[in-house]
Amino acid sequence: MSRLGMDEKVVLITGGGAGIGRAMAEEFFAEGASIAALDVDLAAAEETVARLGEPDRGLAVATDVSDWSSVSAAVDAVLGRFGRIDVLCNNAGIMDNYVPAHEVPLEEWNRVIAVNLTGPFLVARAVIPTMLRQGEGAIVNTASLCAISAGGAGPCYTSSKHGILGLTRQLTFDYGKHGIRVNAICPGSIETGMNIGEGASIAPGVEEEIARTPAGRWGQPWEIARMAVYLAGEEAGFIHGTAMVIDGGWFTAGRNPL
Ligand SMILES: NC(=O)c1ccc[n+]([C@@H]2O[C@H](COP(=O)([O-])OP(=O)(O)OC[C@H]3O[C@@H](n4cnc5c(N)ncnc54)[C@H](O)[C@@H]3O)[C@@H](O)[C@H]2O)c1
Repeated sequence: MSRLGMDEKVVLITGGGAGIGRAMAEEFFAEGASIAALDVDLAAAEETVARLGEPDRGLAVATDVSDWSSVSAAVDAVLGRFGRIDVLCNNAGIMDNYVPAHEVPLEEWNRVIAVNLTGPFLVARAVIPTMLRQGEGAIVNTASLCAISAGGAGPCYTSSKHGILGLTRQLTFDYGKHGIRVNAICPGSIETGMNIGEGASIAPGVEEEIARTPAGRWGQPWEIARMAVYLAGEEAGFIHGTAMVIDGGWFTAGRNPL
């Protein structure tokens, strides 16, 4: 029996093929939930599900969160397989190119907003009718320190992450009284493919900044995932509309955050 009440629950995770999303899949699974990993990279989502090691409790679905027909079909596939959705982790996201607004190509703005802000809206729009029918549900949105401050990214990413907190609050206002709790997490610098390794997009000077934070290190994906499990679980029943900062003290220490 899971202390957090995750036994028999169905958890839909976007961006479930890598990084924080994969860690969320592992942590919710460990608490007894079944996992739907949605990702634009199907092979990555399939690998997440394969690593869980229990095919009956996992489903990988190719999904582009920025596209309504893709999102709608994916949610139908999850419902077809599991029959319910108890938790939505709106986690898929992409970094921008760090340049100031007057140098941002319009395509870059549209691409980042589409994935990071329209995406969570679309997936919530597709999932909420099911949660309303069930009379309960929890949504956890992955925001960022860039949701509460500037300077850790460019204007596309920072605006998209500020937007997701607005979405979190509006959904809280509209659906809290219907049994749906909505919260956000604001991670600092987390060691994932977004920052480390081939194709990563890392802010200039970030390693030196991290070394000067109170924690003095990168965060690990599971350290965000555990908070998602907590926020979605029964112990967090009185927590609505919060933006939980998990950043090793970077923001508190007043340094330019990521
Ligand atoms: N890593 C960090 O330091 C950090 C800090 C703050 C916030 N975040 C946020 O955490 C979330 C997860 O980031 P991560 O670090 O795990 O990144 P990641 O790049 O390791 O994983 C992101 C996943 O999202 C998927 N994805 C990208 N576009 C998609 C789309 N259109 N539709 C569906 N899936 C898509 C990717 O294929 C990938 O599997 C993002 O929202 C990111 O903005 C990350």
